[in-house]
Parts: sequence; structure tokens; C-alpha cells
Amino acid sequence: MQLQNRVAVVTGGGSGIGRAICRRFGAEGAQVAVLDRDLARAQETARLLDADGIKALALAADVSNAQAVTDALGRVLEKWDRVDILVNNAAISQGDDILTIDETTWDLNLNVVLKGVFLCAKAVLPGMIAQQRGTIINIASVNGLTGLSEEPYSAAKAGVINLTQNMAIKYGQHNVRVNVICPGTIQTPIWQNRVDKDPTVFAKLAKWYPLGRVGQPEDVANAAFFLASDQAAWITGAVLNVDGGLMAGRYGMGRELEGE
Ligand SMILES: NC(=O)c1ccc[n+]([C@@H]2O[C@H](COP(=O)([O-])OP(=O)(O)OC[C@H]3O[C@@H](n4cnc5c(N)ncnc54)[C@H](O)[C@@H]3O)[C@@H](O)[C@H]2O)c1
Repeated sequence: MQLQNRVAVVTGGGSGIGRAICRRFGAEGAQVAVLDRDLARAQETARLLDADGIKALALAADVSNAQAVTDALGRVLEKWDRVDILVNNAAISQGDDILTIDETTWDLNLNVVLKGVFLCAKAVLPGMIAQQRGTIINIASVNGLTGLSEEPYSAAKAGVINLTQNMAIKYGQHNVRVNVICPGTIQTPIWQNRVDKDPTVFAKLAKWYPLGRVGQPEDVANAAFFLASDQAAWITGAVLNVDGGLMAGRYGMGRELEGE
């Protein structure tokens, strides 16, 4: 139980990776605030935690709305007095080609993916600084590291990586650690539209991954748990790829050269 009595907030905790992180943290003894813009999803995660004997609080908030974030974090403080761990996981991805998307779509991606991290971090940092302890884990993406399409989402994720590094150097003096995870393809509901169009999409994508499969939400939750725990006490500003080796090189190109 390495997160005993820690208070964690997980945004986008109502689905996929966020839900897996809530369950992993809870299994390690954390009290978990499940924040999601979709209250029913947050409540379902909280119910799963409750069934496992984990203290949970479901909160409805849009991370791109400053007032909603302040109100939701206020409820966590009311109930548990502090926030020790924040996981900025909520995201959407809409549109790709910048020639076809409009300004509203651009703004929506940036507001949820990048501004959401800014607002949630800003809400918890004063408390973390006051208690001289805290950790923030941002969930970015391999899309923030290289060109993989979904331009507005990817540009925002690149921003999340840089914001992580800047927060790490600024708040390290207060024993606040800030790290970022860059997942590759993870089998979650965010892929549902693509799966509906092509049920073989994960099998096709698996070929790009040196480890021969796409990821599961638990692969990311395990990494988030490590970064949240005291095992990572001297790790801050790290960009941790959880991507089955995707970013290690050009696997397909290597195979081509080897005539496979
Ligand atoms: N699944 C992947 O292949 C993959 C790959 C790389 C990175 N990621 C990242 O992992 C994180 C989780 O993705 P997932 O695949 O679990 O997605 P998901 O769609 O299953 O879950 C995202 C959750 O975030 C919530 N959410 C969306 N917008 C919100 C907002 N404005 N305010 C509050 N909550 C909001 C949704 O309601 C949903 O419950 C995201 O940051 C995503 O970019 C996912």
C-alpha cells in the first residue's frame, strides 16, 4: 500500500486510462476524487472503487472551465483537506487537417487538453506548496512528440509536455514533482468511432509496435502509480513514453531494410 492516506484527483477519471489510474491508486491506499465532465461516468468509477472498499468522491467538472475546476477542487478540500496527487488525464481530440477545421474546433482542443492542465495545476499547487509535498502527473501522448496527425490535439499535447517541464523546474524547490506520460495507442473508449468503422484497427496498429501489441489502460496506470509513489521521489520533469517502443525508432523502416 504505497499511497496510503494520499488524496488523489484524477481528471477524466470516468473512462479508459483515467478509470484504470483511479483503481490502481485506490488499490494502493489512496482516497480518490474522480473528476469528469460526465457525472454518470465519474459515479460509475466511484461505485467500482467503493465496491473495492476504496474511499471515492465523484465530481462533475469541465477542466476547461476555471470556475468549475475551482468548485470541484473546493469539494475535495472540504472532504479531505488537501490534494497530494493530481493526474491531468481528461482530453478530447477533434479534427485534424488545419485546412478543414475551424477556429472553434481549434480552441476546443486547446482549451480541454492544454488549458485544462493549467487550470487544474493552478488550483492544487498552492496547497501542495504550503504542505511542501505533492505530485502532478500529466497524461500527454506520443502525438505530442512527433507528427502523427490530429494536429490541434497533438499541438496541445506538445504544450502539455513543455508545461510539465516548466512546472517541474519551478516547483521542485517545494518538493512538488511534475512528470508527464506519453502513451501510444491504448485500447479505450476514445477509439470507439474508429473501431466502429474498422473493427481490425487495433490489430493493424499493433504491427507498428515493437512489443507487438497496442496498450491497455493498466499499462499507463502502472506508470502513473510509479510516478505518484515515493519510489519516484527524485524524478521530476521526466517525459515517460508508455508506448510499446513506438518512439524508440522506425520499426517499419528497419524491417523494410532487412527485407522482412
Ligand atoms: N487511448 C489512447 O490511445 C491514448 C493515447 C495517447 C494518449 N491518450 C491520453 O490519455 C488520456 C485518457 O484517454 P482515454 O483513452 O482514456 O479517453 P476516454 O475518452 O476513454 O476518457 C476520457 C475521459 O475524459 C473525460 N473528459 C473529456 N473532456 C473533459 C473535460 N473537458 N473535462 C473533464 N473531463 C473530460 C471524458 O468524459 C472521459 O470520461 C487523454 O489525455 C488522452 O489524450 C490516450
